[in-house]
Amino acid sequence: MSLLIQGATVVATPRGTAALAGPRQGALELFPGAVVRCEGRDIAYVGEPREHDRLFPAPDEVLDARGGTVLPGFVDPHTHLPFAGYREGEFDRRLAGASYAQIAAAGGGIVATVAATRTATFDELLALTLRRLDLQLATGTTTTEAKSGYGLELDAELKQLRVLREAARRHPVEIVATAMPAHEVPPEWRHDPERYVELVVSEIYPAIAAEGLAEQVDVFCERGVFTPDQTRRLLADAGRYRWRIHLHADELCDLGGAGLAAELGAAAAAHLLHASPEGIAAMARRGVVAIVLPGVSFFLRERFAPVRALVGAGVPVAVATDCNPGSSHTESMPAVVALACLGAGLSSEEAIVAATLNAAAALGRADRLGSVETGKQADVVVLDAPSPKHLAYHFGVNLVRHVVKAGRIVLRDGVRT
Ligand code: NIG
Ligand code: FE
Repeated sequence: MSLLIQGATVVATPRGTAALAGPRQGALELFPGAVVRCEGRDIAYVGEPREHDRLFPAPDEVLDARGGTVLPGFVDPHTHLPFAGYREGEFDRRLAGASYAQIAAAGGGIVATVAATRTATFDELLALTLRRLDLQLATGTTTTEAKSGYGLELDAELKQLRVLREAARRHPVEIVATAMPAHEVPPEWRHDPERYVELVVSEIYPAIAAEGLAEQVDVFCERGVFTPDQTRRLLADAGRYRWRIHLHADELCDLGGAGLAAELGAAAAAHLLHASPEGIAAMARRGVVAIVLPGVSFFLRERFAPVRALVGAGVPVAVATDCNPGSSHTESMPAVVALACLGAGLSSEEAIVAATLNAAAALGRADRLGSVETGKQADVVVLDAPSPKHLAYHFGVNLVRHVVKAGRIVLRDGVRT
């Protein structure tokens, strides 16, 4: 099957197969009037329409961009998708002045979602996850990371990851699954967190690996959760399982998480609100991608990640939703792109690179995803907007008109095909 995307005002894309950093963070290239030719799953041509017609036969199918903007499909490199239950009561309490930490200390927070997720059946959790994938696709996400971490016991962690495996079979959005039994110390192990670390390493990880349910591992390294030393132990076997390492680092205070991510050879570290200059420099040296989560800052009414310091130091920056019921309840990459600009201080070009090529790099997929270029997989979004700047500038509405995943139209005029 061949598909021609024509009629765009502009094709806007980063280029290359590696994350862009420093002065290249905002290297979004513009191809006015270009067409995109897909052959099978991949992109065969991006450029002048007349040159296309000279080189290629008529396509099997045409998708009319109607003056819109063509972008790479968004890659959401950090979510907690398979969860059950909601925490809108906490939302009210936070609006009335309570902090996230106070709510967690009073028995709310992550443990509330753990209880609901443990209780949910496989089918319930699958339905919830598929619904969230629909919302991601409707807002232009073509690949998403998704993690366990609301089970915190063997069976419930496996349930979350098996739900992701089944969802990936059923849904066009590509899923990168991450094992995160070290998201929190479960209530039953609060008296002995060391034993829980031991249990994760000796039983939970091996069971996840034996079923091939994950390709990444993540740990919440934070005061009151897992210490840097525990994090090192939790990640000691990552290489043996061939898992890429991600970290939740320096969210609430500077525990040295950014430096630890560099030390451990992590692909990415997320949050980083309190990352130190030394930690940031270490990330730059090792090429660790910084995943900023501006939805969390907005939702919890906290400061934003130091994106200017990260870009200035040469750390490649990606942006993600962190979709979860407690600290960032959104599936929308356009929403967090707008917040990355208006809250954190990225330019709109930098934020789009963060949501595409750099996010793909965080997931080890920059060779195949994250840009609209010949040879890459044909994952493409058509916006109902005359320039890529509108993604952040025209905020709070859904501009996504069409979505193509692996050469197939999966959303046309906002409707699933
Ligand atoms: O990434 N920081 C820790 N975990 C999640 C929040 C989880 C929750 O509140 O349920 C996060 O923000
Ligand atoms: Fe998270």
